[in-house]
Amino acid sequence: MKVLVTGGAGFIGSHTVVELQQAGYDVVAIDNFENSSKEVFQSIQQISGKPFIGIEADIRDKNKLNEVFTAYPDIEAVIHFAAYKAVGESVENPLAYYENNVGGTVNLLEAMRNHSVKHLVFSSSCTVYGDVPAEALPITESSPVVKANSPYGNTKKVCEELLFDVSKSSEVKIVALRYFNPIGAHDSALIGELPNGVPNNLIPFVTQTAIGIREKLTVFGNDYPTRDGSCIRDFIHVVDLAKAHVKAITYLANTKRKFEVFNVGTGNGNTVLEVITAFEKVSGRKLNYQIGGRREGDVVQIFASCDKAEQELGWKAERTLENALETAWKWELHLADVKKNQTN
Ligand code: NAD
Ligand code: WQD
Repeated sequence: MKVLVTGGAGFIGSHTVVELQQAGYDVVAIDNFENSSKEVFQSIQQISGKPFIGIEADIRDKNKLNEVFTAYPDIEAVIHFAAYKAVGESVENPLAYYENNVGGTVNLLEAMRNHSVKHLVFSSSCTVYGDVPAEALPITESSPVVKANSPYGNTKKVCEELLFDVSKSSEVKIVALRYFNPIGAHDSALIGELPNGVPNNLIPFVTQTAIGIREKLTVFGNDYPTRDGSCIRDFIHVVDLAKAHVKAITYLANTKRKFEVFNVGTGNGNTVLEVITAFEKVSGRKLNYQIGGRREGDVVQIFASCDKAEQELGWKAERTLENALETAWKWELHLADVKKNQTN
């Protein structure tokens, strides 16, 4: 079976292409490399040892999308990662976010309709739950979706609604996976997260600080009502997350349901300070950090109930926080090696 992966050179997309290939799927991956690089396709091939089709294409370009489906008429399912994801940037430039994330999804659905492709897995986010009360945790899929506190978050909410409507009016079946906080890298350290500029997310900031690219990590607040005062998140290993997509593809082939959402997390929450301690343990390095003020828009705590994914997709996170941090660190060391070789 052939699967089209949009955003296949990105952080989660690249790991998913590897897992799809290892599960025996043929892959066509497209990316415009706006937030990734062409070399990622070579690294994927190096890991899997299997060729796949990698194409430079922008999902905002309807003609190009149709060309891809025409060239590979045996595509039976699509996994849609391609999107912008920087929360702060989305506040500055909401139109670009709606154009790429929502407009791009509309284009993709049109191209799927034109070519009778009926299965779609969509990258959604736990950001759709907003700030949830402690008693609602671990959060289940039946918790209400609220107005997101950023245009980025809203694009995910709007896309879920768009996908629901399309599934009701056509033969298309859709799974939306609501990711919690994806971290880590492939064990080979050949693929991982490539943050653009100063990272907004915690783990790349931690690894860049440990290696000396950043001077100091600031912990955004230690006065929250949590066990140590710092925020709580559900950090999920990107390889576990990638495997959930393979399960979702199998699920779509066997289900009669038209639209389903699944949380994809570990079911455990860890505080920011716990993450730092765990990172110091696995890397053997002391992390230079300070406590700073709260970051605007942060939710206090969120972690997933993943019972639905376990029961219906047959998927469960298997890796530990320590393993995720260890692989993130190995990836940062690999990036440093690559840089050193380039300057020599
Ligand atoms: P990423 O930026 O690493 O990957 C996205 C890929 O899509 C990049 O390679 C980028 O170049 C590509 N892309 C962007 N716009 C495109 C376009 N118009 N045409 C073709 N390619 C395009 O991000 P990621 O972390 O891998 O995220 C993948 C998906 O998961 C996104 O939809 C994101 O919103 C969602 N998500 C991510 C997180 C997270 O914390 N990383 C959490 C929840 C949801
Ligand atoms: C995690 C925790 C920070 C950086 C974001 C998006 C969300 C989703 C995942 C896509 C928070 C703290 C961080 C730092 C810190 N993405 N932190 N110092 O905010 O949970 O979620 O990425 O859908 O939509 O909002 O992730 O990694 O930015 O932060 O103390 O330098 O680490 O305050 O508590 P977040 P994050």
